[in-house]
Amino acid sequence: MTGFVGAPHEFHDAAFVRGWADRFVPTEPRLQLFDMILGEVRKLEKTAPHVVELETGPGYIARHILDRHDTLTLEALDFSQAFFDIARETIGDHSGRVVFTNADLTDQSWPGKLSRQPDAVISTWAPHDLGGREPIADVYARCFETLPKGGVLVNGDFIKPDGASWEFEPGRFEIGIHLDFLRQAGFADPKSIVHLEPNTVDPTAAQNYACLVPWR
Ligand SMILES: C[S@@+](CC[C@H](N)C(=O)[O-])C[C@H]1O[C@@H](n2cnc3c(N)ncnc32)[C@H](O)[C@@H]1O
Repeated sequence: MTGFVGAPHEFHDAAFVRGWADRFVPTEPRLQLFDMILGEVRKLEKTAPHVVELETGPGYIARHILDRHDTLTLEALDFSQAFFDIARETIGDHSGRVVFTNADLTDQSWPGKLSRQPDAVISTWAPHDLGGREPIADVYARCFETLPKGGVLVNGDFIKPDGASWEFEPGRFEIGIHLDFLRQAGFADPKSIVHLEPNTVDPTAAQNYACLVPWR
């Protein structure tokens, strides 16, 4: 069997965005990813780390980590007002610890819009939507420039599993290529620490995501 893995998006359309948020309420494996990402943030051993989340969408991991870490501050970056409206609902009573930053990651000046230098940059299920390899490599380069020495990027995103014969949309590619891009960006020893919901036989668009962890 062969097929195509990918999904069309209308990120500025309120009805599409609400439907996406309702369809993708986090499942158990995704919550496992959220906990792994929080685990990396905790390794910073900072009392009050400032965490930038790229492409926050409905704010699911934002809420998850704000519930579990009392002192971190979060900067939620996205380019969709419709998603910000939902993220504000999701984040609810934690909003005092959150800055919402409207920025487009394909505009290379986005780090200049951040409220301050982050200790960590995190993301889930998102950079693949930038549409290809080059914009993701660019995001990695901007993160390397933005993070301080000792900071961390944790990207839990969809990949194309090795050995898959199906065609994948251009933003979903092999872990090895992600690691190459991270090294080219300047990260010395990037790792993938998990491959969740693996499926090389008949993959859906919500399976096969890795957690890529480069320390600065
Ligand atoms: C598939 S959603 C994922 C949302 C969230 N990270 C999650 O896991 O639930 C992708 C998100 O990326 C945002 N996005 C897509 N392209 C973007 C860009 N060029 N700059 C900033 N945000 C972008 C969309 O608005 C949307 O919120």
